[in-house]
Amino acid sequence: MRLSLRFILPLAAVLILIAYAVVPLVDKLIERWFIRDLDMRSMVIANSVREPLLERLASGSTVRIVSYFNRLTQDERLFAVGFCDEAKGELIATKTFPKELKCETFALHESRPIRMLPSPNGMLHVSIEPIESEGSRVGRLVFVHDMSFIQRRSAETRKFVFYFFVALGCIVSLITVVVAHMSRRGWVEGTRTLLRGEIIRRPGGRKSTTTPELQPIARDLRMLIRELETEYRPRDESQVTWTPEALRSILKTELRGEEILVVSNREPYLHVRRNGRIEVQRPASGLVTAMEPIMRACSGTWIAHGAGSADRETVDGRDRVAVPPEHPSYHIRRLWLSREEEQGYYYGFANEGLWPLCHIAHVRPTFRASDWEQYETVNRKFANAVVEEAGTDSPIVLVQDYHLALLPRMIRDLLPNATIITFWHIPWPNPESFAICPWRTQLLDGLLGSSILGFHTQFHCNNFLDTVDRLMEARVDRETFTISHGGLSTAVHRYPISIDWPPAQEFTSKPVETCRNDIRQRLGLPADHALGFGVDRLDYTKGILERFMAVERLLELRPEWRGRFSFIQVAAPSRSSIGQYQEFEAQVREMARRINERFGTDGYLPIILKIEHHEHETVYEYYRAVDLCFVSSLHDGMNLVAKEFLAARDDGQGVLILSQFTGASRELPEALIVNPYDIDQCAAALHVALTMPAAEQRDRIRVMRGLISEFNVYRWAGRMLLDAAVMRRRGRILERSTLP
Ligand code: F6P
Repeated sequence: MRLSLRFILPLAAVLILIAYAVVPLVDKLIERWFIRDLDMRSMVIANSVREPLLERLASGSTVRIVSYFNRLTQDERLFAVGFCDEAKGELIATKTFPKELKCETFALHESRPIRMLPSPNGMLHVSIEPIESEGSRVGRLVFVHDMSFIQRRSAETRKFVFYFFVALGCIVSLITVVVAHMSRRGWVEGTRTLLRGEIIRRPGGRKSTTTPELQPIARDLRMLIRELETEYRPRDESQVTWTPEALRSILKTELRGEEILVVSNREPYLHVRRNGRIEVQRPASGLVTAMEPIMRACSGTWIAHGAGSADRETVDGRDRVAVPPEHPSYHIRRLWLSREEEQGYYYGFANEGLWPLCHIAHVRPTFRASDWEQYETVNRKFANAVVEEAGTDSPIVLVQDYHLALLPRMIRDLLPNATIITFWHIPWPNPESFAICPWRTQLLDGLLGSSILGFHTQFHCNNFLDTVDRLMEARVDRETFTISHGGLSTAVHRYPISIDWPPAQEFTSKPVETCRNDIRQRLGLPADHALGFGVDRLDYTKGILERFMAVERLLELRPEWRGRFSFIQVAAPSRSSIGQYQEFEAQVREMARRINERFGTDGYLPIILKIEHHEHETVYEYYRAVDLCFVSSLHDGMNLVAKEFLAARDDGQGVLILSQFTGASRELPEALIVNPYDIDQCAAALHVALTMPAAEQRDRIRVMRGLISEFNVYRWAGRMLLDAAVMRRRGRILERSTLP
């Protein structure tokens, strides 16, 4: 009933208003019609009485004329008739003829004739018709009509209009109420069906068809459901196929399309001047290997030290350059460091201090106050660059590695709402080891500016928690793996880094057989010559000396491999201005020379050492050409060479020998796991690898490739971003919370 009244009352009000406006209009219209009617009527009567009147005028009998006029006025509407004789100036008229109408008046009103005349009985209509005889006017015939019948008709019409509107109102109301009730029932039914989810999506994934009126509601409902699904979806990551698209969709749906800022010391592309030409170089860096595909997928800006000799020549006015050069999809924002800054921050504090501090390689860390100052200054420079590049006050910043330990706190101070995900690419030592750093609390405080702090392994997460527990005033929650410090909390989680999967087509397009033959031919070796391979930065943590010792031991213990097996070591020069690295390079060269001298013959070298930068394409060619890959790091956060080798071997052949001190060994137990300090064990592993049946190689490699394909670098980044998204959502909810 209420619904009906809601329709009827406004309708009635509108109809009454229309009726009010229409009735006077109708009155006017009717009156105009009738007046025109009376004018025409008078003309017709004048025409028909003209002859009889002229006859009677000719007879000169006024009585006859009056009686004739009286007969005419028997018509109920004709009230009076008169004739103004022009010759005599006399008025011959019926008794009813109004006194105020005189012959002179008619003459005066020749051009604008009188139409209406008020009388005690109502309005009268006056029309004047000239009477002519043989071309000259003899007088004017005046007809006075009673207009009261028009008023009677008007009243009748008003009544009719009133009833018409009442009837119209009733009919329209009835139809409206019926339609409204039917529509309401339809909408209620439709909405219920929507809510039951029956027409949101039909079985088989087909899109629903709903009535057009309900489509906006269906759309809103779908959005709401999607939001709720993301909000409360259990994180069943096994259901996700981790691809660049998956990552992009996380950014779009979970992080509302926020732009990503990556900050690292090392840039993914260096422009270097060689022989007068500018060349693009990709550095040998696990960090770059992992982050680069992520940036290709997500776009955004990568802030890094511009270290290439031609870097300044290739940036725009804002120190930015679009990369990758072949298909630009994100930007590098280059930061310039003075020689002193680079020396103190990069070579000094980061690589002579933190690097040996975090790696158990028995190299003593060196800490200098002047290096620390530069480390702080450069971290501050990076923080300012982040603020410059951030499009909002709550950007998502991915801080990379030990060069930038102070940066999270600096960003947090400048952009309190930023989501800062810091990833520590190297191991984290135990509290006793870490405590030797004179600036240990500053470093920890810097890192605790992060929203999320990631390590490759749980072991390193635990070490970090222990370190904070031991050295800081902070609350360490070992159930949720969060640290609360200075009113902020940092989640400490394990995110094992990985590689792009599947590897770029250009790396694996050359068939394995061709790679095998090409490499052996290039080295002047027979087609069946067995090859081992190692590729690293020339760094003392990589166990290159131990690797060579293992080759030497193999040749000692298994003479059958002499002349039939060589080990290719590609070593990219790294941090060469540091004394320890220069010494290490000398040791590597010396050991290779010694072993080659001991076991080499004409045309045969047991160790083929290539200390130079190699592009990815060349490294992949080696991966595909060799029989085994030996990763013998003394200590390594993850080591992506192991994963790259497996990714390159789509032929299912090849053996991976892997140090137990790499993060990768936790994920790849099907490799031949060795202790690089145990030279005999490593030599035995080399022999096992060289004699492993093809079927066993295939079985091992299949399992490991399966793991990497699933746990690829998109999953690594995706998991961090998903955790960041949850954190941002929680933050928003807490902001709204009224609880104290
Ligand atoms: O292993 C730690 C790390 O920062 C890696 O992420 C990267 O592969 C390597 O060191 C790069 O070293 P640099 O930038 O000194 O050449």
